[in-house]
Amino acid sequence: MGDVRVRSLAVFCFVLSFLSAANAASALDKIPKGMRVNFYNASCPRAESTVKAEVQRAFNADRTIPAGLIRMFFHDCFVRGCDASVLIDNSDSEKLGAPNANSLRGFEVLDAAKAALEAACPGVVSCADVIAFAARDAMELAGNINVTNWLGGRRDGIISRSADTLTELPAPFDKFPTLVAAFKKKGLSQNDVVILSGAHTIGRAKCGIITQRIWNFNGTGKADPAIDPAYVTTLRSQCPQNAPGNRINMDMTTPTILDVNYYRDVNNGRGLFESDNSLRASPGASLLNQFTQNPQTFAPSFVNSMRRMGNIGVLTGKKGKIRTVCSVA
Ligand code: HEM
Ligand SMILES: *[C@@H]1O[C@H](CO)[C@@H](O)[C@H](O)[C@H]1NC(C)=O
Ligand SMILES: *[C@@H]1O[C@H](CO)[C@@H](O)[C@H](O)[C@H]1NC(C)=O
Ligand SMILES: *[C@@H]1O[C@H](CO)[C@@H](O)[C@H](O)[C@H]1NC(C)=O
Repeated sequence: MGDVRVRSLAVFCFVLSFLSAANAASALDKIPKGMRVNFYNASCPRAESTVKAEVQRAFNADRTIPAGLIRMFFHDCFVRGCDASVLIDNSDSEKLGAPNANSLRGFEVLDAAKAALEAACPGVVSCADVIAFAARDAMELAGNINVTNWLGGRRDGIISRSADTLTELPAPFDKFPTLVAAFKKKGLSQNDVVILSGAHTIGRAKCGIITQRIWNFNGTGKADPAIDPAYVTTLRSQCPQNAPGNRINMDMTTPTILDVNYYRDVNNGRGLFESDNSLRASPGASLLNQFTQNPQTFAPSFVNSMRRMGNIGVLTGKKGKIRTVCSVA
């Protein structure tokens, strides 16, 4: 009797820990103390609309801007929390880290928004919130959706170190277990890995990241056998061996739309990076099928995971500061 109870408790705990690993109802679902919706309603009522206007302006000129802004939010939040450390300039800043250098974009949109905010309400709106608001606006534009109840109240950090980008951000060569570990370190779940990787349905990548994968995988002189052969042909035509700086669309069909085409691609051996491909046979693969079969379930899931990501390591209340110029700590 006692034995059965102990065993079923063990099974229960196992199931519980599996569930929480897969889809954590984690600390990130709680509203961090000091954050709220419409945070600047009294102190700078036009804060969010000002950012939105700048993102819209940039989008009108360049439909690929949302990709840059969404990735900026990811790279900010994973490194020292969502504290705008990614925007700081110093001799060894995050911007100079390998994942960011000559890669992150959208800085001028954030700078324009911040300048307008400093003119309207000096010293009030944090750079961290500017990034977060711009990422929200980017989702709305790329996904043709409305995102409500987006939190504000993050404050800015003062430290930015290039080395952190290497330890905190996952690499395109990482496989699913490594990705899950990197996300878990931030309080995010296995499902968040699958859901947020869906951001690769927009934007572009440098050829250099996949040159080996398509021309000389693991020293074989061939492409990674996991890639659909027709896709190898396409990739090789766009990424010849001597052109690491070329840029290609990560979703070749609908590169500016936040849709489920990424998941279709991954399911068909068209994930661009090994990290993308690793979702295919992972414990998270059921989500790939869910999204391809019920595309309307993707956007709400993506927004929810972005919301969770936006709560990582936030500085609120009296912590941190409000930078006047986002690049100056
Ligand atoms: C799961 C692990 C991830 C890895 C290994 C990864 C890696 C990369 C790499 C190597 C690039 C190409 C950058 C370049 O060549 O300039 C890229 C692009 C991009 N990533 Fe990720 N990423 C991951 C997750 C995410 C997440 C969580 C988001 C956001 C929610 C995201 C959003 C993007 C976007 C939007 C682009 C296109 C950027 C642009 O067009 O400028 N990625 N990613
Ligand atoms: C701003 O929002 C807070 C919390 O919702 C509320 O208490 C406050 O009265 C609002 N201020 C203005 C000026 O609307
Ligand atoms: C977003 O909300 C606005 C105003 O409520 C509405 O006019 C618009 O159609 C909505 N857009 C989408 C994509 O749902
Ligand atoms: C890469 O090559 C090494 C040695 O030839 C082999 O042990 C390893 O399994 C290969 N890895 C992959 C992913 O094919």
